[in-house]
Parts: sequence; structure tokens; C-alpha cells
Amino acid sequence: MNITVVGLGYVGLVNSVILASYFHNVIGLDFDKTKVATLKQGTATIQEPNLQSLMNDASPRLRFTTNYKDAIRPNKIIYIAVDTPEGRDGKPNMTNFNLVLEEIAKNAIQDSYIVIRSTVPVGTNKYAKKYLEENSDYKFDVISHPEFLSQGSAVDDMLNPSRLILGVSTKAAEDLMLQIYSNYQKRRIPILITTPETAELIKYAANNYLAMKISYINEMARLCEIVGADIEEVSVGIGLDPRIGTQYLKAGVGYGGTCFPKDTRALSWLGSSHEVPLELVQATIKINNSQPDILIKKINSHFKSLSNLNIAVLGVAFKGGSEDVRNSIATYVVKHLLDKNARVRVYDSLAIENFQKEMQRHSRIDYSTSILETLDNADAVIILTDAKELKELDKSCFIDNMKKPIIFDGRNLYRPQNMEGTTYYSIGRQTVK
Ligand code: UDX
Repeated sequence: MNITVVGLGYVGLVNSVILASYFHNVIGLDFDKTKVATLKQGTATIQEPNLQSLMNDASPRLRFTTNYKDAIRPNKIIYIAVDTPEGRDGKPNMTNFNLVLEEIAKNAIQDSYIVIRSTVPVGTNKYAKKYLEENSDYKFDVISHPEFLSQGSAVDDMLNPSRLILGVSTKAAEDLMLQIYSNYQKRRIPILITTPETAELIKYAANNYLAMKISYINEMARLCEIVGADIEEVSVGIGLDPRIGTQYLKAGVGYGGTCFPKDTRALSWLGSSHEVPLELVQATIKINNSQPDILIKKINSHFKSLSNLNIAVLGVAFKGGSEDVRNSIATYVVKHLLDKNARVRVYDSLAIENFQKEMQRHSRIDYSTSILETLDNADAVIILTDAKELKELDKSCFIDNMKKPIIFDGRNLYRPQNMEGTTYYSIGRQTVK
């Protein structure tokens, strides 16, 4: 089938490549000329396992452009995958999405199917149909089809999804989507056909549920520290109940990234705008906002003053294995250290350049290219992601390289029993001294 994908960010590019790898002909559009030029040369603009090789294989069926006319006219199936960043009071900013609708209305030359992949407030599907039909001469069948990609496993998440959600209003739209995804049907991947409103809400409800699990375990971690329990074992103990499940129960300094912080606030806004206060969602946000302070409090109470101390920070992305620093807890923690006059040296094998850009207004940060260099002569180390190379560190690295091996582990990477010989603080577990 011939499909246009508008927006070649994270979701749009992965969608384009995978649709093309399933033998659909795809035109990808983005207004960013540099990005499109890079893609035209056959180079993926984001780093995701297997994306580049899939893109190479699918290249005969992939075309990229910045021109709406070239992208909209030939195809009557148009995916929208532009970002809907957080606006005021958590309300999604729909500027980019609305611009796409405007361009579709202007350039369409036939009745079309519009597939919404962007995360959008409930009601957007109806609004899009109304807008498009009022502003063009054609009929539009709009499908709400949320995505659930995680950074670092986006290709696999899309090739082998836990489910596909299709919010449709007509049988024609249902049949079309099932044809596009015939491959998934053959593999018996669950496909839920539902209404657009339900599909739109499923996306928010899923992300908020996962965020709530994280805040829940972080709240339990606070209690563990007081009553002498171990949060890692509490996680295992509750996660073994299949009704609860093992995932998203890792205590730490809180969730970051481009989805959970934004989507929790958007759902809270949506509830308030309909006068349905969503108290669990609000509590999830509140706990997450204060979670980094749990670690900061430990740092501040260990040292009388941080002034002129050398503090090493390992891991500055919003999670291990990512180059993305948006809504990263490290930004908050490092700013605190700088406010307290500490000298900060940071390391992250993937995210260091983005972090440097993010923090360019702040002096007193050294950017390091190796873990050992970062630890060299440090008064303390703070660990903020679960990157594989950090998990695999031996405690001798800390003991042999630091002034004193004082470790603040915001991701519970090591077992306290193995940390003898260091001062080891973590989350929801007893401190080793
Ligand atoms: C998330 C969802 O997983 C995905 O389905 C959705 O489409 C987009 O948002 P992503 O933001 O890539 O994906 O990262 P994810 O791996 O879910 O982690 C989000 C944050 O939660 C990270 O900061 C991570 O460190 C934190 N986290 C995750 C925890 O603190 N504890 C956990 O148990 C799991």
C-alpha cells in the first residue's frame, strides 16, 4: 500500500521504516530540511538498535521530502506522527498537529484516511475529521492508532508489539488498517478494534499506569528506609504475583524522558478540564517531583558542605542506553550540586553531548570521556542511570580511584551486601558504612 508519514521524529521515522520493511511504499515528510537531507542519503537520524539496517533493506520503498504537495497528493493513507509537546498546565501543545491538518486540507486531492500516531487529547479524532471536511472538498476517515515505543527498543517494540490499538469509526477504516497490518494478524498479535475516544484514552491510561507503578514503588522505598525493609526484595516479592507483574517496579530517583512526565500532566489536565479530578495521577506526579530530593537529602546530610568538593556524576540521560537528556533527573541533581558550589564532573557514554548543550549556561562542569577519569580523586559519586556499563562496575573502581569511595546510587545498581569497604547509599535500602 502507499502510505505517507508526516513527522520524522522518533515515532514517525521508526513507523516509516517498519511500514516500508513490510513492503508498503512510504513517503516520509518533515519540515526539517537537514533531517530530510540526511535521510535522503540513507542515514537514520536517530540511534535505535536495528533501525539503520532495516532502513537500508527497505530503502527502495522509502522516499523523503519536505514538500507537502509531493507527500499528500499521491497517497490517500496519511499517518500523522508529529510531536505534541507539553503546553501550559500540562495541556498538549497542538500547534504542529494543527499545522499538519491545515496542510492536508490544502493539498489533498482525494478522499483520504488519516491515521493519528501522535499522542493527542481525547476528542482530537473528531476534531480532525470536522476540521478537514470543513476546509477541503473531500471526505476523511480518521483512525486513532496510538504507539507504545520505548527508546532503546523502538524497532523491536514496533515489530513485536504487545498489542495494536485501532480506534475506528467505520468498517472501511477497520478493513484498511487490518490490511496494512495483515502481517501482525498472521502472527496472532492482539489487535483491539475500538472507538477513537477509547483508543485516545488507552495511550494516556497505559503510560500513566506505568508511571504510577514507578511512583508507587518509590513511595514504598521511602517507607523501607524507615522500617528497615529492602525495596528490591519488596519489588521481587510483589512482582511475582502475576496480577502485579515484575516490570516498572524499579525504585530510583524517579522517571524522566519525553513521555511519562508529559503524559501524566496531560492526563491530569484532561481530567481537570472535564471536572474529573484524577487523584492517583496527581499523586504519581507529586511523588515523582520529590523523588530526586530523597537522594539529594542523603548527599546533603553526609557532607556538611558541598563547597569545592569534587563530585562525579555517572549517567546523565533520562535512562540508561539513551542519548536523550530531556526531563532527565541528572539536570535537576547537577543544578543542585552547582548551587551548592560543588565541582562537578559528569560522564555518560551516549548522552554527554546533549547534556553539555542542555547545561551550556553553567560553568564548573567538566565533561569526561571515561568512567575512571570521572572517578579520579572524587569526593563522592552519584549514579543516575541504569546504563549497562555502570551496572557492571566492580566496587574496586570506586575504592581504587576516588579520594574516598562514597557512593550515592540513585538506581540501586549494586547489592548492598557486596559493597563492604565503601560508603554506599541507595534508594529504599539500608546504607552500608
Ligand atoms: C515510555 C513507555 O515505556 C513507552 O511505552 C511510551 O510509548 C513512551 O514512554 P520511554 O520514555 O522510552 O518509554 O522509557 P521507559 O523505559 O519506559 O522509562 C521511562 C522512565 O522511567 C525512565 O526515566 C526510567 O529510568 C524510569 N523507570 C522505568 C523507573 O524509574 N523505574 C522502572 O521500573 C522503569
